[in-house]
Amino acid sequence: MKNPDLQLITLAELKMGMYVILPLAWHQHPFLKNRFLIQSEAKINKIRELGLKSIQIDLSKSRLVETLSSGEPRASSESGQQKPAQLVVTEELISAIHDKSLPPVNKSRLIRQHSITMMKTLLENPTAQNIKEATKGISEMVSLILADDATLHYLIDISSHDFYTYTHSVDVGVLGITLAKSLFKDSTNHDMRAIGVGLFLHDIGKVGIDQSIITKPGKLTAEEMQEMRRHPSLGYRLLQETRQLTEESKTIVLQHHERADGTGYPKGIHGGDIHIYGRICSIADVYDALTSDRPYRKKLPPFAALKIMQDEMIHHFQKDLFQAFVLMFKAPALNC
Ligand SMILES: [Fe+2]
Ligand SMILES: [Fe+2]
Repeated sequence: MKNPDLQLITLAELKMGMYVILPLAWHQHPFLKNRFLIQSEAKINKIRELGLKSIQIDLSKSRLVETLSSGEPRASSESGQQKPAQLVVTEELISAIHDKSLPPVNKSRLIRQHSITMMKTLLENPTAQNIKEATKGISEMVSLILADDATLHYLIDISSHDFYTYTHSVDVGVLGITLAKSLFKDSTNHDMRAIGVGLFLHDIGKVGIDQSIITKPGKLTAEEMQEMRRHPSLGYRLLQETRQLTEESKTIVLQHHERADGTGYPKGIHGGDIHIYGRICSIADVYDALTSDRPYRKKLPPFAALKIMQDEMIHHFQKDLFQAFVLMFKAPALNC
């Protein structure tokens, strides 16, 4: 019996949000799989370059905003443009995480690229639904980090910082979970997925800060700094309202700028009063900031960043946590 969800369309009718099935073997096209959701115009162009006359789409897996009663996709807005639902967790990300045939170096690049897209989509539109979806994607990432040391090695190693907040979120997520993995490997008392979600979302409160402050190409004034310092509490409140996260995840968001010596914010609490997950996040956060290009300074190489953290900031961190962090890089001894 014919499946009504499977429809043949011309290449001119291709739209974002359609789930396509290519009638080609794996070596005849450049995609990871021969069936997938279209999420960019670039992908539509690539499909058109394959020289097909028509293509099959699966409506049951498509993410089109509206469809005709016949199941035919239709233009939904006044401008005649079809508005695709923007996915937070893309099929490409999930495929890359689960693809056992990819060499670790390629796998880590793909995962990083797609998880940055995930953070971009989420931070541009941090609705409860999107946060819920992202937690699933982050859980998949955490499972990979826990299970696949080869890919993790490359994930830590890659450094490309194009869109700071998105890449920073992903990098702090990967670094923080790796530190948590080394600390809690023998314990079953820690929900690594909840930790991962908190780490990836630690800066989500920045969505509530004036964009001109976030992207200011220079040092912030005292007033701007005060505004910026609201982001941990803002993030905590946002997640509180969306009711999507565990208390542990939210604590990471709230406490990631607290410092062991009490000089942090928002509360200025000390050492053991800061949750262990908040202390983990603060190390990963500072390290990633130092090793990233910022508008007002060049990035530092990993060893130089660790050295500054050791020599000038050690009172901000829990010392043995910092030592465990240094060991992740198999860095030369810092005498800490
Ligand atoms: Fe932050
Ligand atoms: Fe951060």
